[in-house]
Amino acid sequence: MKRLLMMMSVGLLLNSAANAATKSLDGQAIFNLNCSVCHSVTPPPKTAPPIMPLASHYHQKFKTKTEGVNHITAYLKSPKKEKAIDPQAITRFGLMPALTLPDAELRAVAEWVWDQYDPNMGMGRGMGMGSRGMNP
Ligand code: HEC
Repeated sequence: MKRLLMMMSVGLLLNSAANAATKSLDGQAIFNLNCSVCHSVTPPPKTAPPIMPLASHYHQKFKTKTEGVNHITAYLKSPKKEKAIDPQAITRFGLMPALTLPDAELRAVAEWVWDQYDPNMGMGRGMGMGSRGMNP
């Protein structure tokens, strides 16, 4: 478990370094300001699903970053149960409120979310937050 945590934090460090270098709008800073009240990055969750397992879902569901980022951006603007990548999260946490950020910021933070995927986590699906346990 310790080793896993270490791998996860190394992945995070690498990701944020890459982001800071390539993004004019800093997705991580936008996340810290607007999202981190509810979302943690790694489990355990606060009042919403942690970002890293969500990112794993997106990488499983969408082939390209563009598709994934389009979905995330649209979801942030108007969260809907039919659109959710993980409807069980809504049962557990309630529906996310729509965010009124400028489009460019929503897109930047959506790209940041996508980039939180850590291939080292492999079967990242639901890691540690017990999404399996949420099944009836
Ligand atoms: C007031 C609390 C709150 C804030 C603030 C918040 N979220 Fe959420 N978010 C939730 C909850 C609760 C869910 C799970 C239910 C759902 O999917 O609607 C969720 C779900 C999500 C999902 C999964 C969407 C999907 O495809 O199913 C993403 C991605 C996400 N949030 C990103 C963000 C980002 C990025 C921000 C900041 C720009 C943010 N959230 C701000 C509460 C919040």
